[in-house]
Amino acid sequence: MSDPRYEKLKKCYECVKAKVDFKPDIAVVLGSGLGNFADNVDVTATLPYNEIEGFPVSTVPGHKGQFIFGYLDGVSVVLMQGRVHYYEGYDISDVVLPTRLMGMMGAKALFLTNASGGINPDYHAGAFMMIKDHISSFAPNPLIGPNIEELGTRFPDMSHVYDEDLQDAIRSVAYDYDIELFEGVYAQLTGPSFESPAEIRMLGKLGVDAVGMSTVVEAIAANHMGMKICGISCVANLAAGLSPNPLTHEEVQEAANQAAPKFTILVRESVKKIAGLI
Ligand code: HPA
Repeated sequence: MSDPRYEKLKKCYECVKAKVDFKPDIAVVLGSGLGNFADNVDVTATLPYNEIEGFPVSTVPGHKGQFIFGYLDGVSVVLMQGRVHYYEGYDISDVVLPTRLMGMMGAKALFLTNASGGINPDYHAGAFMMIKDHISSFAPNPLIGPNIEELGTRFPDMSHVYDEDLQDAIRSVAYDYDIELFEGVYAQLTGPSFESPAEIRMLGKLGVDAVGMSTVVEAIAANHMGMKICGISCVANLAAGLSPNPLTHEEVQEAANQAAPKFTILVRESVKKIAGLI
């Protein structure tokens, strides 16, 4: 009997395969604001998470909860419309199950997006930050437990999690479309409470540019599997203590929705460029 987490993953994979015959090249995790990104895709199939046996189903308002399979300008993609967060109460291996599943489906690259709080004083609400590196130390590591040998090695190297070529592709799209793009370090905290001002000051001293409640554990799991990874964060608000306003989920969603048109261009055009690099 192999690892129960791997058994569960394989079961989900078989379930998806029985319902949808599709091999994606690129997996895209759609964060806040990118809920309508699928409008850019010739949709082949839609699969709600609750139709996949054993799959963790997201409970966050504003997150839909389905896979979309299709073609973005001829590039085969799987989109995650709604992700699973650790703060929802799932085991960390369930939080990264969707990522692993998309890797098993055949996706060679993983494009991560999210909304974050800006810590770097140059950032403003609505800014975009390409993730150059991350700090995972405030979230549980999804590889804890017996190593799943079928997926990857026990001690994966983390020197180049965010692929340099994919970063170049995103940079060139931002340049071509005249979209301001910062580059920085993203840290994942567990949430669901936003950070305190003292925590934000601490993170700033540690070199964190933007903070959120997702993404890093997904990047760790995808890196373990050997996927090429890139990520863009939409800075939805100034982090706690950096603005006089209290933080609300609604404010985050509103800012992410406002940034959506540019965010969509950045991700859509980058996906097309990345297809030629994997
Ligand atoms: N903190 C954590 N997560 C977030 C924030 C924030 O300020 N904004 C959007 N997601």
